[in-house]
Amino acid sequence: MKGKDFITITDFTADEVKDVIARGMILKHMSAWGEGPKPLAGKAGALIFHKPSLRTRVSFQVGIAQLGGSSVYLTDAEIGFGKRESIEDIARVLSRYVDFIVIRTFSQEDVEKLGKYSSVPVINALTDLTHPCQVMGDALTIMEKFGYIEGVPITYIGAPNNIANSWLNLASLLPMNLRIATAEGLAPDEEILKRATGAKKSKISILHDPKEAVKGAKVIYTDVWASMHEKQKSEERSKLLASFQVNRTLLASASPDAIVMHCLPAERGREITDEVMDGPHSVVFDQAENRLHVQKAIIMHLMK
Ligand code: CP
Ligand code: NVA
Repeated sequence: MKGKDFITITDFTADEVKDVIARGMILKHMSAWGEGPKPLAGKAGALIFHKPSLRTRVSFQVGIAQLGGSSVYLTDAEIGFGKRESIEDIARVLSRYVDFIVIRTFSQEDVEKLGKYSSVPVINALTDLTHPCQVMGDALTIMEKFGYIEGVPITYIGAPNNIANSWLNLASLLPMNLRIATAEGLAPDEEILKRATGAKKSKISILHDPKEAVKGAKVIYTDVWASMHEKQKSEERSKLLASFQVNRTLLASASPDAIVMHCLPAERGREITDEVMDGPHSVVFDQAENRLHVQKAIIMHLMK
């Protein structure tokens, strides 16, 4: 029987999320000692990317190699996803060659379809709607910094996008204190928000006053104001979200030991200032590193 896919964080149970993060931390320590398991010896993963990537592509390819496996990187130029060949057939064919599929694309439904027709696990490496691997790595980073995540006041500030949606998915599993601060007229995905609040696990609020939203926060998280699939909205969002910039003044309202997070790539000077991103509260490069460790744990969990 086919193992699990990881297309959204809610494909895991709360216990699975915690186990994977714990395993990611162990793998991080092991690699610091120059050690690590090789459960992927003789196995291969296909990496389908329809959008640019630095962190995700490199951390997956390096992580798979560290686990003893190999990977094949595919762009749309080779496979013509849903055009040269149907998604169903691509899923069936790749399942005969590889042991898991990682995909970064536009539509969440396309990833679900790939998962439905493949007989090997499918991992979502970002869609317009969600970015589960990022938020799993971020949760690991918060655990590393504070020792726990439950109840830590987390403020996601800026554009309510795939990252914010994935935070909401996590909040539907773990008891979190999550505030989302954005301009009037912008909102996270309605369905995801409904499910997260309906799960009654976490304290979730949507706020429109940036200063109030970061008051006492221990985690301030931001991301670009226009994601890769909506770059045409850049100018409009810059006007709309100007007061949501993560800068020194805003940071002054947070907890003195607050950490500042950004999934990267950042548009420095727009959603975050250089001073904050390069300052003592910033953990953005730890986040980038932790993608490697948590994704190795995700693959190991799906392949077991
Ligand atoms: N954070 C992240 O997913 O970065 P890339 O787009 O560079 O992969
Ligand atoms: N929200 C961003 C995340 C990039 C890692 C995007 O989708 O472009």
